[in-house]
Parts: sequence; C-alpha cells; structure tokens
Amino acid sequence: MSALLPFPNGFKWGSATSAYQVEGGQTNNQWAEFERTPGAIWHSDRSGVANDWWRSTDADFDLMRELGMTSHRFSVEWSRIEPAPGVFDTRAIDRYRQMLDGLIGRGITPTICLHHFTNPLWLQKQGSWERVEVVERFQSFVRYTVSALSDLCSRWLTINEPQVYVNHGYLEGIFPPRQKNVPLALRVYRNMALAHGVAYQTIHALQSQAQVGNASALRAFRPLRAGHLGDKFAARLWAAMGEDVWLHAIEHGRLLPPLGVGDNHPALRDSFDFVAVNYYTRTLMRFTPNPLRIFGTRAHPAGAELSDSGRDGPYSWYAPDGLYDLCMELRALGKPIYISENGLPDADDDQRPRWLLGHWAAVQRAIAHGADVRGYDHWTLVDNFEWAEGWGLRFGLVALDPATGVRTPRPSAELFRTVATQNALHAATVQHWAPELMPELFSNNINNI
Ligand code: BGC
Repeated sequence: MSALLPFPNGFKWGSATSAYQVEGGQTNNQWAEFERTPGAIWHSDRSGVANDWWRSTDADFDLMRELGMTSHRFSVEWSRIEPAPGVFDTRAIDRYRQMLDGLIGRGITPTICLHHFTNPLWLQKQGSWERVEVVERFQSFVRYTVSALSDLCSRWLTINEPQVYVNHGYLEGIFPPRQKNVPLALRVYRNMALAHGVAYQTIHALQSQAQVGNASALRAFRPLRAGHLGDKFAARLWAAMGEDVWLHAIEHGRLLPPLGVGDNHPALRDSFDFVAVNYYTRTLMRFTPNPLRIFGTRAHPAGAELSDSGRDGPYSWYAPDGLYDLCMELRALGKPIYISENGLPDADDDQRPRWLLGHWAAVQRAIAHGADVRGYDHWTLVDNFEWAEGWGLRFGLVALDPATGVRTPRPSAELFRTVATQNALHAATVQHWAPELMPELFSNNINNI
C-alpha cells in the first residue's frame, strides 16, 4: 500500500477571488445597483467594504503565504478601470499594480480574470452583453488593462463562467438582469464567445508569452434517473448547449447551434492556452416539459451528502468523481488543465476537510491516469460576498466577520497548508482529517505519478 499520493513537482496550490466579492466600495456596476433592489440579495445583505481589498490586501496575502499558496487568481473591475466609455483611470491601475507586486513579492503567481460577472453601468445602458457592440468595448478595455499590467502578469482569464452569467441572469433570473428569456440568453452567450476570441488574440498581440484562457463552469452532467429517457435527454441537451458548444467554439472557431449556424470565427479558433475548470458538484438533470428551462431542472441523488444551503436549497452535493471525469474528458483538448475554482459553502467547517481531500484525491488520480493538471485554486481564501446569497454562504478557508473584518482560520486552513506544503496527500493526513476516506484512497496502489 502506498502511504502517499503525490502531486507533480511544480504543481500550484492557490486560491481564487473576484473583484466585486472582495474589494468593497463598488458603486459603478450593475451589481451595486442590483444590491439596492428589494429582495434581490438574501437577507438584504450588502457587500459594503466586503473584504476591504480596495484599501489593503496585505493581511490576506500574508495568509496566502502562510497557507503555502503559490498561485492566486483574482479579477480586475472594469467599472473602476474604465469608469466612463473610453475614459481610463490610472489610479485603479496603480492599485492593481500594488496587488500584483504584493503577490509576486510573496512568491505567489497571479492570474488575472478580466470579466467576472460585473459590468460598468455605462455598458449596461448600452445594452451590456445583449448587443454585439460589447465585443469591441471589451476589446478596448482588455487592450488598455493588459498593456498596463503585462510587465507584472502573464496569465489571463478572459471571462469567468459565461455559462453561469447566462444561466443565472437570463434563464433562472436570479442574477441581474433577472431575465427568463432563452433567445436573449443565447445572444449573450454568443457575444461572450465572440468577445473571448477577440480578447484572446488581443492579449497575445500585446504579450507574446501570455497564457490565456477562460474559466468555464463545468458540471459533469448526468441524468438523475440513469435509464430515464427524458432525464438522459435533458442531461445531454444541457451538456451540449451549456458546455460542449463553448468548448467547440474555442477549439475549432465554429459557433454551432444554438450559438450560431456553424459560422466560423478565426479569432476563436484555438483560443485557449490552457483549460480552466470551475467545479463544485455534479449536476443531475430531471426532465421537465418546460422549454424555458431547456427541458431540465437540476437535482441531486436521494441520500446525497449536501453542503450548506442557500435560499433555494443545497448549494452542492459531494461528488468528487465528477471532477475526475472532467479532467479525464478534457485530456482530449491536449492543453494543460487548471482547477480554477473548487470549494463548498460550509460555515462550521464540519464537511470541508473531507470534501477537500476527496476532490484533491480525484485530481491526483486523474493526473496519475494521464491528465495534465497543473494547479488547484480553492474558492476561496476568506469568506466573501456571495452574489445573490450575500453573506449567507461561507466558502472561505478563513471565516470573516463582515461587520468587524476579523478573520478566523477554519480548521481546513491548516489542512490546506499541510497538503500544499507537502504537495501530496499523505496517509497520515487523511487518517487524521477524514479516516473514513482511507479505504477508498489507499487501498489500491494505482496513483503513483
Ligand atoms: C463563481 C464565484 C462564486 C462561486 C461560489 C462561481 O460560480 O465564479 O464568483 O462565488 O462560484 O458560488
């Protein structure tokens, strides 16, 4: 029996955040406006100063170093950098440069995401992602921002989770603009694909050594009832429309239905240097005859272990094998893979250690079976403002009291430090934190790298 499941040398352990969720003091984007809509945010929470990153990131960057992190993925706020169309604010750039210096000085490799759900209010007024003009607007913002930061950063994500932006904003109607409109959803998704391609080319033209991708929310769809034709159809349809069309577009440059009519876009072809996967849970689909729901609703198996619940029920169920399956499937794309988000809401931290170990073991097993996974960014370091769930869901390795700003590491922080610094899952670690996983992780000696 092997006493250790090793990760490859140089594997990056880190965390992920986004500007709106941590910076605080945002006033100029659609989420700041949305927060003021009655009933929009759970418990009517406000982001307020959030994690106060606009003032200082020192304490949290120190925490990253203490936890053995060597990568951090964060986003820059379009509405700060370009507060009005074509007007760029060098003070915002200076602040992001300080953040980059702070990370690099602590030995942490930064990845910048250029769009993470928020749009400047001026872009909203122009029709946001619903109009194709956004492609040029986004390109102009990307050109300015990358030119201003490229001496400090060479890893870029263009757009975070177009799938979630479209689903939550235009199908489920829980994010702004709270629409339930399939044709509009498809138009937004198409514009995001086009903007990604153009942004990819723009960044490479500015920085030859850039590594560029986008972060996709991948759900490892399956039918709820294995033999049920309707459920199988819904799972297939959601995978095809939500994920496969996107991956096909960035690989081949073609927009298949329903994003297009098979039209080719050279800027989109091979527009990713790595695959960035955000994975939280496997999504099981139950058939519904409702075309507005694209014939499926999300479900979880009876008896599954569930994370903390948000307004509409459990956020996720424990399904690390979905992450393994994704990594194995994505091998076909022939590019390095990064887990760019993974975690769970668990305020009392009674599940997180085992969930983390289960997901890390899934990644390790995929690597042992040939998947080129290079890093893992945990969502997230410190509890942050969870969009429409406000402060109701706690994803941090470190707890935050938003009223005082006081940070208190959860036990999982120590587990993260142990595994990241050892770059391996030792049997002793698993035995200590989640002995029930021992038989599953250490009975077969198949995971040596
Ligand atoms: C998003 C994050 C969010 C996390 C947890 C991801 O879909 O990119 O912004 O906080 O999930 O819900």
